[in-house]
Formats: sequence, structure tokens, C-alpha cells
Amino acid sequence: MLERLQKIISAAGITSRRASETLILEGKVAINGIVVTELGSKADPDKDTITVDGKALKISAQRLYILLNKPPGYITALKDGQGRPLVTDLLKDVSDRVYPVGRLDYNTEGLLLLTNDGEWANRLMHPRHEIEKEYHVRVRGKVIDQQLKRMAEGVELEDGMTAPAVVNLVKSGEQNDWISVAIHEGRNRQVRRMCEAVSLSVVRLKRIRYGSLMLGTLRAGQFRYLSDAEVRELAGDSSYNSHAVKSERPDAAARSDKPGHFKKAARPERSGGKSSGRRQ
Ligand code: URA
Repeated sequence: MLERLQKIISAAGITSRRASETLILEGKVAINGIVVTELGSKADPDKDTITVDGKALKISAQRLYILLNKPPGYITALKDGQGRPLVTDLLKDVSDRVYPVGRLDYNTEGLLLLTNDGEWANRLMHPRHEIEKEYHVRVRGKVIDQQLKRMAEGVELEDGMTAPAVVNLVKSGEQNDWISVAIHEGRNRQVRRMCEAVSLSVVRLKRIRYGSLMLGTLRAGQFRYLSDAEVRELAGDSSYNSHAVKSERPDAAARSDKPGHFKKAARPERSGGKSSGRRQ
């Protein structure tokens, strides 16, 4: 199927659609050996050889969109000099190379998206879309309203003030409290640093929501494919062309590894707590 060249390049994960246009205008892109500088140019990713700076694009016909429940103790990078386990180790039966949409810390658990659709990943991560992510945080001891309020209003970090967040007390226990924190920024270790800024010590951090998508009942280390509707919803575009999405299958979770050595994740309740937050 013929598609716009900039779309093919961004879908291959090289760069965003806008930056792909620049590559075309700069004469760095060729279709079957012929340099193309027209932005309206089209090619067939299944039949044509498209090169950027002389290197052929690797285009896979099938787009994969995966929701993994990342266990703690896995890194989201695609390789690690220290030999630590990689999240992609948990996707042994996945037919194509996929990479994480954003990152979670080594010890953070929960909802992680992986895909081979670079354009989709770029959309989700673009600050313009301000997709809200929600975390459940187990903190040592008791939290007080003032701490929740400060986190909700914004705290000063070394890279600047955080934007307003939605922060709730979810559950109170003997030794620990659980709070929920919903943010739309994606700064490094943001939730941990926000907690540190109000003197809260994080015992456990779990992402339970990404935009409209909930982690649901997947166990740690398991994954499932997203449905077409979920892919489009997250893209913020009801007509997003996801190229024959590998759609959600009832047995998808069963296909994933059964790591066996994870503790069953505690499932804190999602709502009903004291709210100190404001929605953006
Ligand atoms: N905030 C953090 O501090 N760590 C994560 O992994 C994600 C969000």
C-alpha cells in the first residue's frame, strides 16, 4: 500500500514525522536509489527500498503493541552493561523487535508499553499530548495532608518545579501508607523525586495507568497485546492507521513467560481516598 514517505520513516522508529520531513527536504532519503525531496512523495513499504543516509529502513509489516506488567528488577533499556535482566527478556515469543515507550526505573513495576511503531511511540511521548500516568506508591510510615498538598501543587526539583499533579491517599496500613500520584510530565525518576522533596520514603512504586489504559489484572512479568481501539485511543486519533494491529487475544497473557519468582503484586484500591489533587 502506498504511504507518505515521512510516515514510513517515522513508523520505522528513526525519528518523528516532522523530523522525517526535514530529512526528505535535505535530500537524505531515497526510494529505490532515487533521491526524493518532495514532501508529498509516496512509497510502498512492502515493495520499495527506502534509504535514509544510504541505510535501508527496516520496516516490519506487522505493528505490535504490547502492555507488559513490568516486575521490579528489570531494566527498560535494550541492553545493559551490568548484565541485568531486560524487560524484553519477558517477551520471548514476540515475533519482532519492540522497544519500550518511555522508561520505568529498574525497581519500578507496573504498566509498560512496548511497540515497533515508532510513530505511535513518538506521539505518546510527545509533551504536547500530556498523557497522564498514574502511579501507586507505598511509602514508609504515615503521610500527612500537607505532604499530599505540596506534591499536588508542585514541588521544586533540581530541574525545576513540577506541574500540578493529582495526589490521593489510597490506603493506610500499620507500617505503610499507599498514595496515588497522577502526573503528565515524564521527567527522570519524577515520582521518587517528588516524594523525596516532601520527605516521603518510597518503598514500592507501581504504574497502574497510562492515559485511559489501566494495568488491570495482568500478573507481574505477563503481557498482552493491545486492541485496535486501545491503540487508537492512546494515539488520540480515532483513525490512526496501525497497520494490521496484532490485536488483543484472550490467550495473550498465557503466552508470556511465567517467571515464577515474583511475589504476587499487592493490589491497592484505586479510589476512595482523600484527594489533595487537581486535574490539569
Ligand atoms: N517516576 C519514577 O520516579 N520512576 C519511574 O520509574 C516512573 C516514574
